[in-house]
Amino acid sequence: MTEGRSEQDRVRIFDTTLRDGEQSPGIALNRQEKLEIAHQLARLGVDIIEAGFPITSPGDFDSVQAIAREVEGPVICGLARTSKQDIDAAWNAIKDAERPRIHTFIATSDIHIERKLQTTREDVKGQARAAVAQARRYTDDVEFSPEDGSRSDVEFMAEVIQIALDEGATTINVPDTVGYTMPNEYAEMFRRLYELIPGLKDVTVSVHCHDDLGLAVANSFAGLTAGARQVECAVNGIGERAGNASLEEIVMLLHTREPSVGLWTGAVTREIARTSRLVSRLTGYPVQPNKAIVGRNAFAHEAGIHQDGVLKERTTYEIMDATTIGLDSNAIVLGKHSGRHALRNALEELGFEVDGAALNAAFKSFKELADKKKTVTAVDLEAIVSDEMRQAPTAFDLESFDVEASNTRAPLARVRVRLPDGTVESGSFTGDGPVDAFFSAINAAVGHDARLREYHVSAVTGGRDALGEVTVLLELNGSLASGVGVSTDILEASGKAYLRALSTALAKAEEDWSGSAAEEAERALERVERSTPAP
Ligand code: KIV
Ligand code: ZN
Repeated sequence: MTEGRSEQDRVRIFDTTLRDGEQSPGIALNRQEKLEIAHQLARLGVDIIEAGFPITSPGDFDSVQAIAREVEGPVICGLARTSKQDIDAAWNAIKDAERPRIHTFIATSDIHIERKLQTTREDVKGQARAAVAQARRYTDDVEFSPEDGSRSDVEFMAEVIQIALDEGATTINVPDTVGYTMPNEYAEMFRRLYELIPGLKDVTVSVHCHDDLGLAVANSFAGLTAGARQVECAVNGIGERAGNASLEEIVMLLHTREPSVGLWTGAVTREIARTSRLVSRLTGYPVQPNKAIVGRNAFAHEAGIHQDGVLKERTTYEIMDATTIGLDSNAIVLGKHSGRHALRNALEELGFEVDGAALNAAFKSFKELADKKKTVTAVDLEAIVSDEMRQAPTAFDLESFDVEASNTRAPLARVRVRLPDGTVESGSFTGDGPVDAFFSAINAAVGHDARLREYHVSAVTGGRDALGEVTVLLELNGSLASGVGVSTDILEASGKAYLRALSTALAKAEEDWSGSAAEEAERALERVERSTPAP
């Protein structure tokens, strides 16, 4: 611990990228992607990873379990409503972690109790009591959240929190579920809760804020100044609706202003930029250029007067050093003649352990890139490896494509796509533009009528020879899915991104279908059990 810091001033970072973040429309991470993010969160030094909501689907259960079994360092947490089945599912998913936590929640605002839960305050108290008691029988690390806390009657919420404490909850998280509160109001709510609940000062109090009014970080900070010592946040601020408080913003706020505020975190700030890039790539959510801390302009100076100032003395216009968040990792790492061994070492340094077929695939992509690009940077390597990782074994594969474009007639695209069963199908289509024709030809080849909703192209690094990264958001049968593709050829990157989004949409549809089929089977079984007298 740095000299002068006290344990009481340490703020725990509770990362919910894989739970609240994953609830964002269009995001559907597979098990491998979630594991990759969880390992990176461990390198980033977060204290708690909320790995998912295990009852919601077999896929989510599986991913949470894999993270609990593999990821070392942080506490691994699973979310549960107050029902017995939810808490059993959360516990079964996380029980193999070194340090498992169950997070259970129930709404305490009247609007949620009356309209959503259609129940009474008394029932909410009973459910909270039973849930925390059940969770405590499994583990001594139990978090309780009164959902919609910031819109709840504070006296009633305090009664529910007292019940959770009586049953042994060790962390109390009071969320601003709908992003409605303001910093002074949120801080005041915590002051009142400390007055009403004397035992609150003996447990960890937590903030969880949504960004509907753009105040998630400000509100979280206000809660910390009022005594909370855990902040729930997500990388790049992803999450329900407008998202959660952004992890990188709250961490760098506390880091940069530690001399005045006196609070600190155990986050390894040099891992921030890489974590942000990984999450953006795997979720398909691009980071806006002017985003605080991790936007590509966050450390760029456009105006001449600023550039002049920074050249003379960096701190004239910069309050943070880019190296603090790891932006210098874009140093050149490999050249055209580097071999497999050098590539493996560079990847290890970047935190990727690739061997066998994965290393061969990465090496092939690296050589292709090195032929076109003079120097291959760490950021290029990250892009190549994440691109390989996204290639799940059952996903569609782009075998070949041919796009004819001119300004005198409609563009024509022809594609050949390898389907999950190994067969190759062709499709051809004309369109309004080359990309439109290309995607319509893919639809024809795979036999699905997906609709393009968003399409973004960006360069991984600068220069004319840069790798291009394409993000696609599409809609299939009413559900959204995103995909990312990387290549020096923008059309190839587009095709990969589109096919990945399509694969994700189909996997999601299958999981939803089997989920509802399983629920239906369970309901049928219950009906039979009810009508059959016990022996
Ligand atoms: O926003 C919210 O209230 C939540 C709870 C589950 C903590 O995400
Ligand atoms: Zn939330």
